[in-house]
Amino acid sequence: MPVVGKIIKIAGPVVVAEGMKGAQMYEVVKVGEEKLTGEIIQLHDDKAVIQVYEETSGIKPGEPVVGTGAPLSVELGPGMLRAMYDGIQRPLTAIEEKTGSIFIPRGVDVPALPRDVKWEFKPTVSEGDFVEEGDIIGTVEETPSIVHKILVPIGVKGKIVEIKEGKFTVEETVAVVEMENGERRDIIMMQKWPVRKPRPYKEKLPPKIPLITGQRVEDTFFTLAKGGTAAIPGPFGSGKTVTQHQLAKWSDADVVVYIGCGERGNEMTEVIEEFPHLEDIRTGNKLMDRTVLIANTSNMPVAAREASVYTGITIAEYFRDMGYGVLLTADSTSRWAEAMREISGRLEEMPGEEGYPAYLASRLAQFYERAGRVITLGKDDRQGFVCIVGAVSPPGGDFSEPVTSNTLRIVKVFWALDANLARRRHFPAINWLQSYSLYIDDVTDWWLTNTGPDWRQLRDEAMGLLQKEAELQEIVQLVGPDALPDRERVILEVARMLREDFLQQDAFDEVDTYCPPMKQYLMLKIIMTFYQEALKAVERGVEPAKILKVSVKQDIARMKYIPHDEFINVKSKEIMEKIKNELGSLN
Ligand SMILES: Nc1ncnc2c1ncn2[C@@H]1O[C@H](COP(=O)(O)OP(=O)(O)O)[C@@H](O)[C@H]1O
Ligand SMILES: [Mg+2]
Repeated sequence: MPVVGKIIKIAGPVVVAEGMKGAQMYEVVKVGEEKLTGEIIQLHDDKAVIQVYEETSGIKPGEPVVGTGAPLSVELGPGMLRAMYDGIQRPLTAIEEKTGSIFIPRGVDVPALPRDVKWEFKPTVSEGDFVEEGDIIGTVEETPSIVHKILVPIGVKGKIVEIKEGKFTVEETVAVVEMENGERRDIIMMQKWPVRKPRPYKEKLPPKIPLITGQRVEDTFFTLAKGGTAAIPGPFGSGKTVTQHQLAKWSDADVVVYIGCGERGNEMTEVIEEFPHLEDIRTGNKLMDRTVLIANTSNMPVAAREASVYTGITIAEYFRDMGYGVLLTADSTSRWAEAMREISGRLEEMPGEEGYPAYLASRLAQFYERAGRVITLGKDDRQGFVCIVGAVSPPGGDFSEPVTSNTLRIVKVFWALDANLARRRHFPAINWLQSYSLYIDDVTDWWLTNTGPDWRQLRDEAMGLLQKEAELQEIVQLVGPDALPDRERVILEVARMLREDFLQQDAFDEVDTYCPPMKQYLMLKIIMTFYQEALKAVERGVEPAKILKVSVKQDIARMKYIPHDEFINVKSKEIMEKIKNELGSLN
């Protein structure tokens, strides 16, 4: 029997109901005559405090609240890829077809996974096989890019006594497992999972492999590891959204979960309109073939922002469990935090820093802790990972505010966007002095093996030069560049090359939008070779003015626009020769 209570108070997204004895914390309830979806977030005797994931205007005290007996859960199975969901996994596309609008009418109940689609199920086990939780029993080619692995659900272990082949909906039985106690379990292709509970795995693995994003400043300078966490804080217009789009398009993850959380509706509309048309160079198919979009825009109810984050991470973990690499991006976690603040205010909780609830830090930590590279459940010891990249929008770009500072205590990579760089059109506007990656030591071996043995040395020297540049610029402002020793004038020139010819990367240029690791390495090596040869020339007594005039500088400036293979195989060697010839012959 479901619990049935009665509304006694409504405060924006928060509703209080009485007569709720027997209900559970985090149970989903249907609120009011319109059956709006809500979740119990506090229980005091028979009173339940409920956050409602839909617009509450118009509902009145006295209307019923009905328990569902289940926590907020998502449906996991074929049909998620290419989908666009709201925060509580209602399919926006299916609803649009039904109602003509992506803005969901209240109380609409459309299942997350289509019930009428029949998927071609190919078994990978036979009758008599023993299976345990996490084992793959069959596959569905869900899209041209992703084979959906059908997993034995958590809690099921035993002998396959029936296994089917053919076309089935997500509700039809594809296998029967006889458990050790003799009970027979029907396996369907859909699982449900409570979003607040991390999905289990066997073992966490160290973050030793970089997630290649094709963006030089991110890969070479501030590397994110597969299974790692990163934050992109930055003021309005500094490039948070473009950076996340670039990650979604280019990084070497198999599956992308893109959460639009509380940002303006038109930004999400851009995503919704742009993504379906994007080609995916990694597979030759459409980007949407390996993408799940979750949209909870600023005009949608605030409570659903939190749900959108949990829905997204649960879907990401599920693809990880199949053995895939998953990139989850959330734009913006600040809007989620603001929702927490609003709900907490309605609950009249004791406010913490700047009005955010005291549990802000622990909520953020619980979310980012769900990232990781793991050995999954299942006999074949598959590996999968989830990377989490959260945008943060600090008001006024002040990184000391609570959401940014708490996030930075948790994540291991910090890509600090800088309004000044964006204003100067230095994109990606990632500040090289403020940003960092705590994975560098872990991923160095990968880079040494996959690019060149001097990768780490080049990277550290280049960063050292940029730091030196910042110091020198202070002096230059006081006394002008001519007062600097020749050696330091060379440093200024090379630092400029590093900024303009290496770090700057145009997301909208056909070639430069993606830069493979080998090209990144060779570009850096060329600039650092220029530095070494220029220093030698200075030591021979050559004037810096002559060094600044060599024509190979133009070749260096054009490197990024040269098609990758041509650059790696031919052009890079020519430029290297030219540096040695031109600088070597100066006197
Ligand atoms: N990597 C990039 N390459 C080229 N232009 C960029 C890049 N990043 C940002 N921009 C420019 O800056 C603008 C604002 O970026 P956006 O990501 O929308 O900012 P935010 O989400 O931080 O408000 C973009 O419309 C684009 O013109
Ligand atoms: Mg944005």
